[in-house]
Amino acid sequence: MEKKSLLYEGKAKKVYQTENPEQLIVQYKDDATAFNGLKKGTVAGKGIINNQMSNRLMRLIEKSGVPTHYVEELSERETLVKRVTIVPLEVIIRNISAGSFSKRYGVEEGIEFENPTIEFSYKNDELGDPLINSYHAIALKLATEEEIATIKDYSFRINEVLKNIWKECGVILVDFKLEFGKTSDGRIVLADEISPDTCRLWDEKTKKKLDKDRFRRDLGGTEDAYAEVMSRLTKYLSDNK
Ligand code: TMP
Ligand code: ASP
Repeated sequence: MEKKSLLYEGKAKKVYQTENPEQLIVQYKDDATAFNGLKKGTVAGKGIINNQMSNRLMRLIEKSGVPTHYVEELSERETLVKRVTIVPLEVIIRNISAGSFSKRYGVEEGIEFENPTIEFSYKNDELGDPLINSYHAIALKLATEEEIATIKDYSFRINEVLKNIWKECGVILVDFKLEFGKTSDGRIVLADEISPDTCRLWDEKTKKKLDKDRFRRDLGGTEDAYAEVMSRLTKYLSDNK
C-alpha cells in the first residue's frame, strides 16, 4: 500500500490517503506536546514505540471482541488503518486518581477507585478540549445516545483487557484516553492510539511513572521509560504466544 497525499497532520502523527478510499496510513512522529501544544519537544524513538505498542494492544483488543481501526503494520512508524470519521470526544477511563482528576477535586494522586470512572472531553483545540457530559455531547450532535452507549461499553471492556495485560507486565494502568471513529457503514470502532502518550503507566513496585508525565512534568528519562514499558510488553507477548 502506497502513501498518497497528506490528509492531516496532528501533534504526534501524520495521516495519508491511499489508493483505497476506505483505508489510510498513519505515520507516527517523535514530536511531543503537552498543555494543548504550549509545551513542545521530541522524544527520540517515541514514534516507533507508540506505533508498535498501539498495534499490539489493538490486536489484543480486537481478539476480545471490540472492533478497532487497525488493519496492518507497514513499517516501524507506519500503520494501515480503516478510514473513519473521528467522534470528537476524548474518552478518559480512570482506575486511580491522578492528573486533572486530582487537580479538579483537590485529592492526592494514587487513590485506588472501587470502580473505574469515565469522562468525556470535547475534542476542540481552540476551546482547550473542555470536559463535556453525554447530554451536551448529544445536544451538540457529536454522537447519538446509542453511539455513546456503545462507546461506554467498549471503553470499560478495553479497560479490563488493558489492565490485565499491564498487570502481567508489572505495570499499573492508572488512566488512559481513547478516541473512537465511525466507519463508512456507521460502525463505531476504536481509533487513534494506545501508548505511553495516552496512558498513565506506573511501575507496580516503585510506582515510577513510565509514561508521558515524565515529559509533561520535566521528570527526565522519558525515552528510557517508553523503552521500558515496550520491552515489558514485548516479553509478555512472547511468553503468551
Ligand atoms: P488528565 O488527568 O490530564 O485528564 O489525563 C487523563 C489521561 O488522558 C492520561 O492518561 C493522559 C491522557 N491524555 C491524553 O491522551 N491526551 C490529552 O490531551 C490529555 C490532556 C490527556
Ligand atoms: N496531547 C496534548 C497536547 O498537546 C497534551 C497531553 O497529552 O498532555 O496538547
